[in-house]
Formats: sequence, structure tokens, C-alpha cells
Amino acid sequence: MCGIVGYIGAQQAAPILLDGLSKLEYRGYDSAGICVYSAKGFQIEKTKGRLAALRTATADGASMTGTIGIGHTRWATHGAPSHENSHPHLSANGKICLVHNGIIENYLILKEFLLAQGKTFCSETDTEVAANLLEYYYELEGDLLRAVRRTTEKLCGSYALGILCADRPDSMIAVKKDSPLIFGFGEGENFIASDVPAILRYTRKVVYLNDGDMVEFTANGATFYNALGEQVSKTPEHITWEMSAAEKGGFPHFMLKEIHEQPKALRDTISPRVKNGRVVLDDIKLTPEYLRGIRRIYIVACGSAYYVGCLGKYILEKTCRIPVEPILASEFRYSEPVLGDDSLVIIISQSGETADTLAALREANTLGARTLAIVNVVGSAISKAAHDVIYTWAGPEIAVATTKAYSTQLSVLYLLALYIGDALGTLSAEEYNAMLHALVALPEQLTQVLSEENLAHIEALAQEYKSHHDVFFIGRNLDSATCLEGSLKLKEIAYVHSEAYAAGELKHGPISLIEDDTLVVAVATVPALFEKTMSNVKEVKARGANVLGLTTVDFADEIAKTVDRPLLVPRTHPLLQPSLNVVPLQLLSYYVALARGCDVDKPRNLAKSVTVE
Ligand code: F6R
Repeated sequence: MCGIVGYIGAQQAAPILLDGLSKLEYRGYDSAGICVYSAKGFQIEKTKGRLAALRTATADGASMTGTIGIGHTRWATHGAPSHENSHPHLSANGKICLVHNGIIENYLILKEFLLAQGKTFCSETDTEVAANLLEYYYELEGDLLRAVRRTTEKLCGSYALGILCADRPDSMIAVKKDSPLIFGFGEGENFIASDVPAILRYTRKVVYLNDGDMVEFTANGATFYNALGEQVSKTPEHITWEMSAAEKGGFPHFMLKEIHEQPKALRDTISPRVKNGRVVLDDIKLTPEYLRGIRRIYIVACGSAYYVGCLGKYILEKTCRIPVEPILASEFRYSEPVLGDDSLVIIISQSGETADTLAALREANTLGARTLAIVNVVGSAISKAAHDVIYTWAGPEIAVATTKAYSTQLSVLYLLALYIGDALGTLSAEEYNAMLHALVALPEQLTQVLSEENLAHIEALAQEYKSHHDVFFIGRNLDSATCLEGSLKLKEIAYVHSEAYAAGELKHGPISLIEDDTLVVAVATVPALFEKTMSNVKEVKARGANVLGLTTVDFADEIAKTVDRPLLVPRTHPLLQPSLNVVPLQLLSYYVALARGCDVDKPRNLAKSVTVE
């Protein structure tokens, strides 16, 4: 997720912009740039890589003179990290310079239109499209504010924009929708930023801009407009946070912040790929002819990404009627897999750099399979090596334990299931529509799972369970795959030994480990198998287990009769239910880890990206 800073005042802008960007580094980025305006015109410096390189290139800002400027840290989405793709971007005639945070979903159509108008482009970004569209409307309207309004009316997706125009050298315009942007009031200087830490050193008086808001400001004043274009007044809030808390957006840990970011991450991943009631995967080139020839799908990944693959088996087999084999990358690479051009290998990775996963991908390519990567980090090794890539737009994940990347990987599997099922005719129109409808509604349902009331309930459960040393997660079908992730979360961040079993397997061995007060988490959300899982719950209860039962609201009464503590989630389409089920399990692990005094964001012995075998 990119970071934006803007400054107008009496001081030199460049050092302030660099300082602000350094406070936004936590958001993750792979390139950075600043633009300062002076009598010489726009001076722009951009570098791929760390901010330190930009500092060196500008002698800590001293090589750029001017008291108005914008800065940006970019986390690549459209186009790999590179000098050309870094912000700020100039419009074709060099009059408009802007920085952007967000994703412009319809940028390809707009780009075609602008190319036809003779506009030129030098990057692959969606942002340059916004710069040229603004130039186009500015030429048409002759009025910058109106041109900005007309431009944003045309943009689909999310954006926060910081805009400079050579014709208005003393002012800046900022506008936002679905991407964060704040305005900071200083004394004889004013600021914009993606987040408070970027400007906290200079001011604590800020306005959080609403969607559709626009502000035009100089060093000495600001005029705010609402989404209807009406002038409005804004009362600043006084920030009382300290820097360390603010970097996490007020959350105590990145993990909790990322758990809360899941509705947005899902929306960003799903909505650009749903057009007129159909799943459109422009990113990939799997033709219906190729799809009809697939005899087997392998899903290859490590850790949580592999557990997404375990869910993928149920989801893709049901919708596409093709055998699916999830397999750990570390096993796949040495297993002499039987692959050919009738095998599709789906590789899942947040980082795109996991050594085993990358090696497995290369092996699959060598063996002649078609490879499709589901990756979060643009330009990563896996995204480059696969034949096709679908990006998860989760934004940077900083906590070591994955949450939002897992959820977005799963959402991509749903998109793929709909896409392949539709192409093969294995999904009826009714099934297709029901599943797609439920997928689009998921972000909102996730917001319900993250309600204050639910969080308080789960936190109380964690207090009750914090001293348990052995935990068993049981479930059937999709629920058994969700259990794998729930159990891993508890191990990795709370250091609690836990096991996940398909509930029907219990009596084939593990039930001998159940004794008085052993904690069993039973996930029972597959309607057709609810009674069967309850039978397993009764078996463990008969041996003294203490059972937490996770089910959907419509089984609330039934589950209360059998388990010690119920935990409820909203109901969705049966195949999509795991997306809602995993979130309370993430929260349970988080709160247990907190209660046990663990370092939630950086658990012992673990690294965020495992780049060695
Ligand atoms: C668990 C976790 C790991 C990763 C695994 C794969 O919370 O984060 O199990 O899922 O190391 O990493 P990526 O997805 O980067 O390939």
C-alpha cells in the first residue's frame, strides 16, 4: 500500500517529504519519489528500492529547492517496481504532476481513450492515466477544480491523489475515495498524508477526509469540498497518539490491524474482477480450449498458503469437476510429480519468494505443465516465473503470521472456480450467480465478524483458554481444512501445541489423547455434516474435553446443546463459508498469544519470507 505526503509552506519541502515518507515505510513499498516545484519548474527524483537511495540521490533533499512538493512510496500494483513506474507522475504536457494511492480499475479503457486523444505514456501504471485524464479535462475546462472533479467522476476503484499544477504554483489539490488521506493544519504551512505519522512531527491538527472530499490549499489556507462539490468547513481533530501507535493505525499490533483490513483486502481483490455479473480474469490467458484439456490440477504452496490449497481441493473439485491435489512445495519438488501439458499447477504465495515454492514452480515449468501463480508481491520471483499470475491485492503484510493474504488467496480461488466452472459448463447459471453474489457480499459479512461485540467475546474466550497446553481442532470437509489454519495460527503466535484432524479420524487414534479439560475447537459449519460433527463432539466430551464450537448463526440453538462455548459466524454460500470461519480463529490465536505475553507480530524462530530451503 502506497504512502503519500504533500507540503506547502515556508520551509524547504524536500527534507519534509523525505521525513514524512520515512514514517510511512511501515506500509511497505518498493520504490519512492518526490517532486518539488519552484521557479525552475517541477524537479522530480525517483528511485527503485529503499528510501535511503532517494535520500542519497537528493543529498537528503538538499539538491531540490522549493517550498511546495509531493512525495510517494510505491508498492507495485500495475507494473513492476521501476524508475518509470515510480511516482510522482507527470502528465504528457508536463503541466500536471501527481501521486496516487489505490487502484484505478478501469485504467485500460481510459488509457485507450487518452491514446486516441494523442496523450503519451511512459509507464505501465494506472496513475499516469489519472495524470493524463486530468490534463485532458483541464484543457477542456480551463478550470483545474472542475477538471479534477470530472476526472474523479470517470475513475472506478480507489484513489487518494495529491496534485500539483504548473499554472497554480502556490497551491495543491487533494481528493480521495476508498484510500486513506488526511489533511494537516500547520502555522503558515499545510500538509496532506496517507497517515498521521508522516506529519505528526509538524502538526497534531488533522482532518480525516471522507470519500469524495476534495481540498485545495495553500500555505495559509484550505478550502474543502464534499462529494457533491459543495464547499464545506472541517473541524480538525487533535491527535493524542504517540508515533509508535500511530504507525499501526492505532492498533496495538500489525496482526490485529491486518485482521481488520480483511474486508478491504477482499474488496480490492474481488471487485476489479467482477464486471456486469461475470468474473473477468484479464490477468490470465487460460482459454476455454486449454481448460477443457486439463486432467488434473495441483495446488502447490507452503504453510498457510498450502492450507488455502487444501480448501481449494473442495472448492475446485465441486465447481469444475477436475481432480485437485494440494501438495506441499517442499514435497512436490522431490516427488517426481507426474505432470504434462494436461496439468495445471496453481502456485500460491504471499511473498512470491518462498524458496521451496519457487523451486516447485520451476520444476513444474520444466516438466511441461502450465503454471498459474496467486501472489501478493508484484514483481516477485514467483510472479515472474509463472506462465500466468493473479495478484491478491492484500497490500503489504507485515505481521509474520499471515491473515489478510490467506483470505485474499482464498478469494482468488473462488474467482478461479467461477471462471473455470463457467468455461467448462460445470456450473449451472443458478449456481454461478449464487456463488458470485455471495462472493461480492463477503467483505460486508466480514465486517460483521469483526464487530466490537464479537471481538470482546473472543477475547474473553482467550482469557479462559490461555493456560491450555494442548488443543485439538476438528471439522469435516471444508471445515477440516479451516482447522489446519486455525491450529497453525495458535502454534505459531501463541506457542500452544495444537493438532488439526478431520473429525471422522479421531477414533482412528488421536482420541486417546483426550482427557479431562483438553480443549477441542470443533468447526461445524457444513450444514449436511453438522450432526456428524456433533457426534464427534459428543465422543470427546464423553472423555472430558472442554469444547468450543464454531458454527453459523442458523445452528446457534443446536450447537448450544452440545458444546461448552459456542462461537457464531454469519451464514454464506457453503463453499464460501471458510472465508468467514477463519477470522474468529485468527482472533482467538491473537488474543491467546496476547494473554500469554507473546510477541504477536514477530513470533520466535519464524521469518516473514522463507527464502531458504
Ligand atoms: C503462517 C505463514 C506461513 C506462510 C508460508 C508461505 O502464518 O505465514 O505459513 O503462509 O511461509 O509463505 P508465502 O505465502 O510467502 O509463500
